[in-house]
Amino acid sequence: MILPRINPLTTKAWKALEKHFNEIKDVKMKDLFAQDESRADKFTIMWDDFYVDFSKNRINEKTIKLLLALADEMQLEEAINSYYSGKKINETEDRAVLHTALRAPKTHKVLVNGENVIPKVFEVKEKIKKITKEIVGGERRGYSGKAFTDIVNIGIGGSDIGPAMVVESLQFYKNHLTTHFVSNVDGDHVNEVLKKINPETTLFVIVSKTFTTQETLSNANTIRTWFLKHGTEEDITKHFVAVSTNLEKVKAYGIAQNNIFPMWDWVGGRFSLWGAVGLTISLAVGYSHFENLLNGAHKMDTHFKIVDFDKNIPVLLALLSIWYNNFFKAESEAVIAYSQYLNQFVTYLQQGMMESNGKSVNRNGSPIEYQTGTLIWGQPGTNSQHAFFQLIHQGTKLIPADFIGFTESLYGNKEHQDKLISNYIAQTEALLNGKTAEEIVKELQLQNMSDETIEKLLPFKIFTGNKPTNSIFIKKLTPENLGKLIAMYEHKIFVQGVIWNIFSYDQFGVELGKDMAINILSEFNTEFITNRDGSTQGLLEYYKTKR
Ligand code: F6P
Repeated sequence: MILPRINPLTTKAWKALEKHFNEIKDVKMKDLFAQDESRADKFTIMWDDFYVDFSKNRINEKTIKLLLALADEMQLEEAINSYYSGKKINETEDRAVLHTALRAPKTHKVLVNGENVIPKVFEVKEKIKKITKEIVGGERRGYSGKAFTDIVNIGIGGSDIGPAMVVESLQFYKNHLTTHFVSNVDGDHVNEVLKKINPETTLFVIVSKTFTTQETLSNANTIRTWFLKHGTEEDITKHFVAVSTNLEKVKAYGIAQNNIFPMWDWVGGRFSLWGAVGLTISLAVGYSHFENLLNGAHKMDTHFKIVDFDKNIPVLLALLSIWYNNFFKAESEAVIAYSQYLNQFVTYLQQGMMESNGKSVNRNGSPIEYQTGTLIWGQPGTNSQHAFFQLIHQGTKLIPADFIGFTESLYGNKEHQDKLISNYIAQTEALLNGKTAEEIVKELQLQNMSDETIEKLLPFKIFTGNKPTNSIFIKKLTPENLGKLIAMYEHKIFVQGVIWNIFSYDQFGVELGKDMAINILSEFNTEFITNRDGSTQGLLEYYKTKR
């Protein structure tokens, strides 16, 4: 037993938080700011290129004290030590959880089953560096002697979303290679990509931790068949590389030994972009930017590991999220990045958070009597302001939100940047203060509106405010800062799993549907149909007659 089995509900801190919740639930943040001029300073952390202001939360100093006491009672510090030192905290799969080792310096020593894994990590990094140089520099060429122009990443889930999100986020730093991602088993996805590429100049990167995933293997097979209409079996060696833990299967698929990039079972799929799964990232932006991404993540790892919890960014963000999830009973959380580059960031976080902490059984295997997991959603600002912000401002649900913004834009267009960031800041202010009936009446009177119309409109124009936000400012969207940001959320996920007394690093919940799809697929071409519920049977029969 590595992680403790403590029901958080039985801790002193949880009980105290329940009591404290009753004291604070109706308090207006606006009043807390008015009473304490230093509130923003008290609840802001400045670290490296980060400025994290969590003062616009429904908390006071006592809340933080109690949340930190909860972390202590749940033995968070010990859990972090186990996480970083390679203990098998993924107990249900008997595995260590070491994405942190993928970005650790060469001098670090991390033991898994008695073996230091860092030299292996660096061997793979060297291999990534070498192929990146060869492909980007045009030294390694396709079967007809032309230099590569396109990369196709074939993978799904963690073998797709992480690299796709980072490549999109870092497109400012991209080289001449065009990158494509094929993930969905929807054949139209792969065909749309095939339409855009030339087999002579395309490198295919098959990424699958298990090398058994239906979607990835189907897409890889379709691409291979297409490729063989142009090139020969021998040319496969030049054009196909693979990233996997399942080296046997990769070899059986016909990928040359030299083109295999290993990964290990001690890195979960959704946390794997830092190793060989990041090959497409390195090819797209060059190895040194990829390395900077890892360096940034390592800086955040160090911050998380050594900084006291009351100044520790991932710890505080995790605890605040628990505060809303378990005490305010908030149903979801939003993440709004004021950067179009981060368009896919929330998709990435959805897998990280919801695949990790969407669990309803505790570490003893018993059903849980409190809410776990975070339903997370969002889109970049300002676009999202014109879409779903209405509900955040005036809906019935409490939706705590993280606002992320960069103080410098990449192209340096100050006029746009000022408009962008004024929106970011204004939204957090509006969510905090709302708008009172008094303010609205004054405003409408100034517009010469009649008393009768004002009275009629008033209830619809009121903003209650008191909606919590965290404001995260980062200097600039560099590979290093992106690494820090991703790692910040990875550690938030970890902290929440520790407090909720769940195992965050398995994902058995995705298995059932996968198995049943295989079963249903096998029945499309037979007369025989398993006895199913009427709805499922109806869908199956309808599809069979229409396909
Ligand atoms: O959907 C479940 C899952 O196992 C994810 O955790 C993983 O990222 C994805 O499938 C892809 O798996 P693989 O890399 O083994 O193809």
